[in-house]
Amino acid sequence: MIILGIESSCDDSSVATYDTHTNTFHELTKTQNIHNEFGGVVPELASRNHAIDINELLNSLLLNFDLKKLDLIAFTQGPGLSGSLMTGCAFAKSFALSLKIPSIGINHIEAHMYSPLIEFKNLLFPFLSIVVSGGHTLISIINDFNSYEIVSTTVDDALGESIDKFAKEIGLDYPYGKNLEMYASNGNEKKFTFPYPVVRSNPLNFSFSGIKTYSKKLISHSDSKTYLKDLAASYQYSVFNIIAKKTKKISEKFKLNRIAISGGVASNFRFREILKDLFSKKTTDFYFPSSRLCTDNASMIAFLGHKKYNKLSSVDTDFTPFANFN
Ligand code: KG4
Ligand code: ZN
Repeated sequence: MIILGIESSCDDSSVATYDTHTNTFHELTKTQNIHNEFGGVVPELASRNHAIDINELLNSLLLNFDLKKLDLIAFTQGPGLSGSLMTGCAFAKSFALSLKIPSIGINHIEAHMYSPLIEFKNLLFPFLSIVVSGGHTLISIINDFNSYEIVSTTVDDALGESIDKFAKEIGLDYPYGKNLEMYASNGNEKKFTFPYPVVRSNPLNFSFSGIKTYSKKLISHSDSKTYLKDLAASYQYSVFNIIAKKTKKISEKFKLNRIAISGGVASNFRFREILKDLFSKKTTDFYFPSSRLCTDNASMIAFLGHKKYNKLSSVDTDFTPFANFN
């Protein structure tokens, strides 16, 4: 089978073909730099640019490709920005209709959860999945392609969202996560200690809003470069340490020693080190996908589209985008 994947949930337009016989992916992704000057993603601009970019990317991707070879179109149905999702959904549906092939809507977060399986053929079910993105912070037990259980989530900000807010507050530019990683790389991460949030209703859950308030106070104390670099490094260390510690608790509780990560924040190398270091004396296997597979991409949409399509009893005609996960 050859599946075309289309991803447009936020500010990355991405298209990919996935040939299941040869297990090869061809992907083109474009990040919308237009948001830089506004200090964050502007939803209306994002959807307008998807309309242009998806078209251009597909023209390049399918330039010498025989369209008759396409069997299925998988597109991101949600969660994400409504306008961005609608652009991708409408494009995918109409393209599929014109080619007389089926299409399937894919949950973006589920695509992140399963994406490590693209690169790691030795990753067996069940495994623990950490998804840390701009909109979500989830730890789940992945049983198979049809079953997973979310065991931990955030009660307020997502990890990526809190990182973006902190980076903006100390004066860094968009894209915040990437810039914070570089900025913090030569800071002293032990210089400041941040509070460890406890969520009483479910101690496995996360909360990042208290750290945000606490860090605002510290940011206002000085604008010296050394001070801010140390603060940035300490902030990164503290939020990554929270994720690592809860992951350890969860892996012990559920006796799972395979851990896979995904979502934009998972591309951060310090995050990977902190996670590994905490487990150093344990026999735990980590599955860290390449950075391009952690951030938003159409390969993971095509991949999960194939797995889901095989399980469908009838062709799904629903293409209503959904903005929220639940
Ligand atoms: O998965 P993703 O690309 O899009 C969503 O589905 O949200 O994740 C985007 C998030 C943003 O908050 C971004 O700042 C963060 O991932 N991010 C990073 C890094 N690269 C992207 N955070 C920390 N370090 C990075 N290197
Ligand atoms: Zn994402």
